Amino acid sequence: MAYPQIRMRRLRKTSKIRSMVKEIAITTDDLVYPVFVKEEINTPEPILSMPGQFRLSINDIVKEAKTVSALGIPAIIIFGIPLKKDERGTSANDFSGIVQQAVRLIKKELGDDLIIITDVCLCQYTSHGHCGIVKNNEIDNDLTLNCLQEIAVSHAEAGADIIAPSAMMDGQVQAIRNILDRENYKMVGIMAYSAKFASNFYGPFRDAVDSTPSFGNRNTYQMAYTNSSEALREVDLDIREGADIIMVKPALAYLDLIYRIKSEYSIPLATYNVSGEYSMIKAAAANGWINEKEIVLEVVSAIKRAGADLILTYFAKDIARWLLKK
Ligand code: PBG
Repeated sequence: MAYPQIRMRRLRKTSKIRSMVKEIAITTDDLVYPVFVKEEINTPEPILSMPGQFRLSINDIVKEAKTVSALGIPAIIIFGIPLKKDERGTSANDFSGIVQQAVRLIKKELGDDLIIITDVCLCQYTSHGHCGIVKNNEIDNDLTLNCLQEIAVSHAEAGADIIAPSAMMDGQVQAIRNILDRENYKMVGIMAYSAKFASNFYGPFRDAVDSTPSFGNRNTYQMAYTNSSEALREVDLDIREGADIIMVKPALAYLDLIYRIKSEYSIPLATYNVSGEYSMIKAAAANGWINEKEIVLEVVSAIKRAGADLILTYFAKDIARWLLKK
């Protein structure tokens, strides 16, 4: 009987040895917290499909931003829920719209203590729920680009640090970079939702912001989950169009892409641990089937191990609190 000379278990013997050889560690610096701000409400509205998440009023969003910053989380990404929706999503680029107001207030209170990222898309603002302008029953790419430009400028004017275009229109990064430079917002960054898949994991989010398309689906602009090389082309284009950070979305079912993109490109890589990924854990934990904290730490570690530099997650505040207690 030959006994092994190489024993992998030597480095697993005690918790000190295990931490010494640990290959990655999650820190609060890795996290971005998504927040929802809704027009004309006074008290937080619980989002039923996302236990623990709320639609916040303009005043509460400032409080929330302070909490996030105090926890050491570097950034938030803001989603707006307007009172009025129309065909063209006009409330999205209103200089005194809900997101623009929120950005101004948070900037005034927190200055550079919190990075403000704004999602730039039309779907929360259009009556049909699509991410672009509808013409002859199709989503018109180039008409939408003009709208995205206007929204981006209104967010930059309000004080956003980073603009995150998520409409999956061709040329959206270049269009936004051009207008930001032209309007003298040269230092406002772009985090591009480059590889955004037509995913079933967005269900709870669409519930939260009431953006389920009233006809059709998003398959003519978001990527098919069968494809991965196509995601590399998307990333390549966005880098050439001027993105500062690129994104893969969702995260968990797309770890292969996080790994591939990180291996091939040197640009910071963000990933969005989306609403469905959050709610599935919440539901199982509420039933006592899994240990929420341990599962969440395992999930975000897997995402980081795959190669993500930044993780947008609804668990960000919980993770920050767990890390502080350690
Ligand atoms: C808007 C947008 C979506 C999400 C972020 N921005 C939804 C969609 O494309 O329908 C999803 C986020 C989540 O599920 O947490 N384009």
